[in-house]
Formats: sequence, C-alpha cells, structure tokens
Amino acid sequence: MAGESQNWVLMVTAQTPTNIAVIKYWGKRDETLILPVNDSISVTLDPGHLCTTTTVAVSPSFEQDRMWLNGKEISLSGGRYQNCLREIRSRARDVEDKEKDIRITKKDWDKLHLYIASYNNFPTAAGLASSAAGFACLVFALSKLMNVKEDESQLSAIARQGSGSACRSLFGGFVKWIMGKEENGTDSRAVQLVDEKHWDDLVIVIAVVSSRQKETSSTSGMRESVDTSLLLQHRAKEVVPKRILQMEEAIKHRDFPSFAQLTCADSNQFHAVCLDTSPPIFYMNDTSHRIISIVEKWNRSEETPQVAYTFDAGPNAVLIARNRKTAALLLQRLLYYFPPNPDTDVDSYIIGDKSILKDAG
Ligand code: DP6
Repeated sequence: MAGESQNWVLMVTAQTPTNIAVIKYWGKRDETLILPVNDSISVTLDPGHLCTTTTVAVSPSFEQDRMWLNGKEISLSGGRYQNCLREIRSRARDVEDKEKDIRITKKDWDKLHLYIASYNNFPTAAGLASSAAGFACLVFALSKLMNVKEDESQLSAIARQGSGSACRSLFGGFVKWIMGKEENGTDSRAVQLVDEKHWDDLVIVIAVVSSRQKETSSTSGMRESVDTSLLLQHRAKEVVPKRILQMEEAIKHRDFPSFAQLTCADSNQFHAVCLDTSPPIFYMNDTSHRIISIVEKWNRSEETPQVAYTFDAGPNAVLIARNRKTAALLLQRLLYYFPPNPDTDVDSYIIGDKSILKDAG
C-alpha cells in the first residue's frame, strides 16, 4: 500500500433511487442467499424523491468497518451486510489516485476498513422500499471505490444478498428480477426491460398514509407466508409466471389498460397472501382501502383505466397515472378526500417519475 502516511482517506458518494414492484416478490426459497420463489418486475423511481445517498470511505487509520444510517451508528455484524461486503471485497481491484499519492493493491483491501454513511430522503422501513435503495446504493458505491469491474446485472446479484428487492434498484426504467435456477444463486439477478425513456408519460404519486415503521418486516412476513399460505404456493407456480409474460408485453407496447389491470391485481393478490398467512398480516389500513375504492370507481367510470395502484408491505399507496393530465386530476381528487395532515389519513404526497441510475456515481 503506497502512501507512507496513515492520513489519507479515499471516498465515493453514490445516489440510488428506490423501486416499486408491479409484480411482487413475496417468498424466498433460500433465506441466506435471498433467492425468491417467483420472478418480479418493478419500476425505478426518480432519485429526487425517494433515494438513498451513501458515502463509502477507506483509510489506513480506520480500525474497523463502521456504518451510520441517517446519522445513527448501526451494527454491521448482520449476515446481510457481511455477505455484501465479502462479495464486493472479493472482487476488489488495484486502485490508484496519483494526485493523493495513494495506491491500493487488490490484496490491501482485505486489511483496510471502511466507514459508510447512508441517508434516506424518505421514511425508513415504512413500506417505501428503503432497504432496496439502501443495499443497491451500498453495493454500487463500494464497487466504484474498489474499482470492481462487474456490470450492473452482476452487481445486482450481490445487492440481492442484502435485500431481495435491492437487486432491481441497480437499473432505471422497468426492471425484472429473474428468480434463477442455480442453487448458488448466480443466475438470480436483475435485468433492465426498458429504460426510463421508453414510457415517459407515466407519473407516480405516492400517498404517504403512514411514515411509521411497519409492525411486520417484509423479511419475517414473507417467511410466515412461505410456511403457512397455500395461496402463496399457487401464486408462485400458477399465477406469477403468466403475469410476468403479460406484464412484459404491456410494458413493451405501453398498453396502460393491461398494465393497470395486472398491477392492481398483483398488489391485491399479494395482500390476499398476507391475509392467508397464519397469523394473518395486515399491511393496508382503512385509508389504503378507501384509496383503492376511489381508483376502482374512477377507472370503471371511464372508457379505459386511468390510474394503477399498488401497495408494498405497508399502508402507503403508490399510484401510477397514465399521463400528466390524469396525474393532475388524481392529485385533485386525493387532496379533496385526504387533505395532507400528519394527524389524519394521509401525511403527505410525493410526486415522482421513473428514473435511470446510470450516472448516479
Ligand atoms: C412487498 O426486499 O424488503 O416490497 O429480501 O427480506 O429484504 P428481503 O425483503 P424485501 O421485500 C420486498 C417485498 C415487497 C415486494 C417487492 O418489492 O417485490
């Protein structure tokens, strides 16, 4: 390791948006490697609204790996962090910074320690996929710091070991997580279906129904569903494989009616699986149900659907409007029924776009 002095610090900052699944991942066939029971498809959001910013730093003066999340130190001892760090370290290459007179060889990375600081610009663990943006950003930032040459799809298989949904945040636009067949998980990775320009009419509106931390984490919720829900087995084997093909077609042809029908049906089936779990899991609340009713009624009163809804493991509604005009109408209706106020039904609204990650580094 060059740099006789111990005083140097090398750092990289990256920003990664979250993603929202339109065909959901729910259930693992391997808990440690995080291998899913079905393929899933998501849309990556615009980084301005829901994203994680992570700075990773290395210095010979750091005595151990440490991490801060939203300013608070957290433990890195968990298997998920350790798996990501190990996988990235094993791919690290020589790094040279001539200006600072720093040269780190491949071997040095095993001895050097990291400081990691990560910030979410949205509520952590409230069903807004914070772990997706978080692990994707961590893996992306570390790969830049350590000069890792793997492409996004290969990196996605590492981010997957931090949190399943994170593998889809390595790309912008619409992204498919292929469940894979290999036991070691090497073929369980994300691919980009289309980039963010392909269907740029869509506008995403998120109604933050509650920014409180959810009671049942996705990880334990899906474990309970795998153990107890027969509907989950039917969904994974019979329903999702067909839906994935239909969704790919709908996205390819920008077919909003099919897209909306599939998105809403898949969200509803995911929550039905949660209800079919023993004991049942309730992620949506009365406000979520009212939002569904309003959108359903509206879609039925028009010639074709105008808005799709989807809910992850929490009560927040992710609404996808077919174009800007519809988005304006949607907001008007939401503001009428649910004026934003932290003491009532909806805390706030976030209006986003689809995005691409490419130059996030
Ligand atoms: C409902 O990716 O958070 O958002 O892999 O255990 O970390 P782990 O779970 P996570 O689950 C996300 C579940 C979901 C659906 C989805 O994003 O596909």
